[in-house]
Amino acid sequence: MSKKPLEGIKIIDFTHVQAGPACTQMLAWFGADVIKVERPGSGDVTRNQLRDIPEADALYFTMLNSNKRSLTLDTKKPEGKEVLTKLIRESDVLVENFGPGALDRMGFSWENIRELNPKMIVASVKGFSDGHHYDDLKVYENVAQCAGGAASTTGFWDGPPTISAAALGDSNTGMHLAIGILTAIIGRQQTGRGQRVAVSMQDSVLNLCRVKLRDQQRLDRVGYLEEYPQYPHGTFSDVVPRGGNAGGGGQPGWVLKCKGWETDPNAYIYFTIQGHAWAPICRAIGKPEWIEDPNYMTAEARQPHIFDIFNTIEAWLSDKTKFEAVDILRKFDIPCAPVLTMKELANDESLRASGSIVEVDHKVRGKYLTVGSPIKFSDLKPEITGSPLLGEHTEEVLLELGYSAEQVAHMQESRAV
Ligand code: COA
Repeated sequence: MSKKPLEGIKIIDFTHVQAGPACTQMLAWFGADVIKVERPGSGDVTRNQLRDIPEADALYFTMLNSNKRSLTLDTKKPEGKEVLTKLIRESDVLVENFGPGALDRMGFSWENIRELNPKMIVASVKGFSDGHHYDDLKVYENVAQCAGGAASTTGFWDGPPTISAAALGDSNTGMHLAIGILTAIIGRQQTGRGQRVAVSMQDSVLNLCRVKLRDQQRLDRVGYLEEYPQYPHGTFSDVVPRGGNAGGGGQPGWVLKCKGWETDPNAYIYFTIQGHAWAPICRAIGKPEWIEDPNYMTAEARQPHIFDIFNTIEAWLSDKTKFEAVDILRKFDIPCAPVLTMKELANDESLRASGSIVEVDHKVRGKYLTVGSPIKFSDLKPEITGSPLLGEHTEEVLLELGYSAEQVAHMQESRAV
C-alpha cells in the first residue's frame, strides 16, 4: 500500500470539543500520527456529552476523533509535564483549543515550546484573535456565529437573529486551522523553522460571511439590496437585513413547497432562477408565454413580482414530490435540490459509495455512522476508523517515548497518566 501524504507527521492533539478535533481528525485521515492528549479519568468532555448508550463514548466524541490515538496525561503534574516535554521534542505540530492563556499557565508557552523544538508548529483556535478587545473570552459555536456576522444575517427579517445548524464556528474554524498547519509545514520545508498558527472562530465565521460584508458596502452606497426580499416593496435600514431563504448572489432563489408539505416539514426544494435558465424554467413549469413577455423577460423586470413567480412555481409543484420535481427540473438544467433530512442523507447510497458517510466499528458501541473525507483525491482514499477509547494508547505511546514498563506502571499509579 502506498504511503499516505501526511505519514511521518506527528501531531500532539491537545484539542477538545469540536473546533480543534475536527482539524486534527482531518489530518489523521490523511496519514498524520495524531496523539490525542486527554486528562486522566475524564478525557475530552464530549466523551460524556449527549450519550445515547450509557457506557459508550458519545457520538459527539466518536465522530470527531476517528483515526487518532489516545494518551491520557495530567499535564499539571511534574511527570505529565516531563512526558509532554519529550513529546514536544519529537513531534511536528501541537494543536490546541484551550481557553485563552491555558497553555501558558501549564508552562508551555510558545517561547518555551520553540526552545524545546524550533521546528515545532503550534496551532491554536481561540474565540477571538490575539489583541482583539474580546480576546479574554471563552467561546463556543453559537457565540462565534453571533460575533462573526452569521447570526445577524441569518433567518427571517421579522424574527430574531438565527444560528445556522452548520458548525460555522467550530468545524469551520478547524478547517481553516488545517489549512494553516499544512501551510506552516510547507513553510518549514523552506526555512527549517516552525511557527505559530492561530485562527479565531470570529474570523473564520466572518470569512464565510464575506458576501454580507459585500452587501453592507453596497447598502452604504445605494441604500438598497436588489436581491433581498425587502426589495422593491419593503424598506431597508442602514444594516444588512436577514434575507430569509433568498439567494446570496445574483440568482434569486427560494425554498418552495412540494406535494405533502402540509404534513412533511421537509417536502420542499430549493429553486434558483438563474438568469440564462429563464426560458427552460418557463418551459418546465408550463409558462412558455413568459419567455418573451416584457414583464418577465429580464431579471430586472421579474424582481418586483418575484414572489408571484415563486407562487406560480409552487402551484406547479403541488402534485410533485420533492424528488419528482428535481427529476423533472434537472432535465431543463435548472439549479435546484430537494431539502434533504438527516435520515435521507444517512441512507443516501451515493454518499455511502463516495465515502462521504461511512460506517465504522467502535470497541464498545459497535457500528456507527460518521462522516468521511469531503475531499476526494485521485491517489488517496482515506480509511476512516473508529475513535480511540480513553487512554487506549497511553502505554504504547510512552513505550515509544523510551519509558520502561515499570516507569509506565508508576505513572499510572500516581495518576499522572
Ligand atoms: N491535564 C491537566 N490539565 C488540563 C489538561 C490535562 N490533560 N487538559 C486541560 N487541562 C486544563 C487546562 O490547563 C485549563 O486549566 P486552567 O484554566 O487552570 O489553566 C483547564 O483544563 C480548562 O481548560 P479550558 O480550555 O479553559 O476549558 P473550559 O472547559 O473552561 O472551556 C472552552 C472550554 C471550549 C470554552 C475553551 O476551551 C475555549 O474557549 N477554547 C477556545 C475556543 C474554542 O475552541 N471553543 C470551542 C469550540 S468547539
